[in-house]
Amino acid sequence: MRRFSNTALIMGGPVMSCMPVSSRATAAQAADASGLSATAVHNSGYHVASNILDTCMETFGAALSEAAGRLTAAEVFCGHGYESIHDEAVALVLGAAGLPPEQTRAILSEPFPVEASARLMQLLQGRCESRLPVAYLLGEAWLAGICFKCDARALVPRSPIAQVVVDGCQPWWATSVPPRTVVDLCCGGGSLGIIASQVFTAATVLLSDIDPQALSLAQENVQRCAAERGIQCLQGHLLASLAARSIDLILANPPYVSAAEMAYLPAEYRHEPRGALEADEEGVALAVELLRDAARVLSDSGLLLLEVGESVEALEKHLPRVPFTWIDLPEGGTGVAAVSAQELRDWIATGAL
Ligand SMILES: C[S@@+](CC[C@H](N)C(=O)[O-])C[C@H]1O[C@@H](n2cnc3c(N)ncnc32)[C@H](O)[C@@H]1O
Repeated sequence: MRRFSNTALIMGGPVMSCMPVSSRATAAQAADASGLSATAVHNSGYHVASNILDTCMETFGAALSEAAGRLTAAEVFCGHGYESIHDEAVALVLGAAGLPPEQTRAILSEPFPVEASARLMQLLQGRCESRLPVAYLLGEAWLAGICFKCDARALVPRSPIAQVVVDGCQPWWATSVPPRTVVDLCCGGGSLGIIASQVFTAATVLLSDIDPQALSLAQENVQRCAAERGIQCLQGHLLASLAARSIDLILANPPYVSAAEMAYLPAEYRHEPRGALEADEEGVALAVELLRDAARVLSDSGLLLLEVGESVEALEKHLPRVPFTWIDLPEGGTGVAAVSAQELRDWIATGAL
């Protein structure tokens, strides 16, 4: 499985997260930073580490070194929207200080407030000992320039589909009229649909998930990020409750971690809802069911963007006669297919699907 966030967290550059390998910056590398950016602070209930009095964090630079050193020593796994330990350290330091994500290098020599030091130690304890993802600790996750509320009711938003949507689904959306109806299927906290609502401003957007907990977070994100857009939330199994040919664009990030992969997930993933990650034995059953039903639900010019991450091989093995188009994702991530309604119908007609 591979996940991604296009949030520009450090030095103005895009970042990605991946598993099982991640680059791990040292504290020295972190201190070398030429600028800072990360997410905003959110309260959590962690206790102040007892060794806070032993640490010296007089400046933001010192706090960054301290944070990166502790994350490195704890060998945390970076797979939830942050590419490296450096990125995570930046997010935690700025979050602890309650600062917005974009900061210049000048802040490194500025005093780090005492109350922020206490808060940072709480956050580091939650990250290093409890292995909570940064986004759950801060209560927020950035994707495509939008700050979403984030907690354990839903997956931490990081789908590479986000960048494809920001790019207007080009060149995959083939007609000059933008999509009029968009469904964020398996929406979790609703990030993809909300991003789509900002890109396709005239479209009717629906967020759908089987999990009422995820939908409650999605509803809160609609209020927080796109209250004026009239986005509806719907509970249900895949596309079952949607009418034939009613949808122009389906954005789908269903669970696709195989049973075998689940056993090896780093501890950080165990804080996410199991039902958001775990699929069947092979990891592709929901994707295959969705492909078949999308042929029914999509309009004539319709498009499906389907993420299956590192289950690409399993899906191709399961459907050997389907010539999938896998999108090149220069900003990170893997395993997103672009499939037109016409292709789906052709594949079904020929028995390939
Ligand atoms: C990988 S998460 C994706 C969340 C969100 N789209 C994102 O990118 O952050 C998969 C989501 O699919 C939902 N889900 C699982 N089985 C489902 C089903 N049969 N029908 C609809 N949603 C389902 C889960 O509740 C979870 O929120």
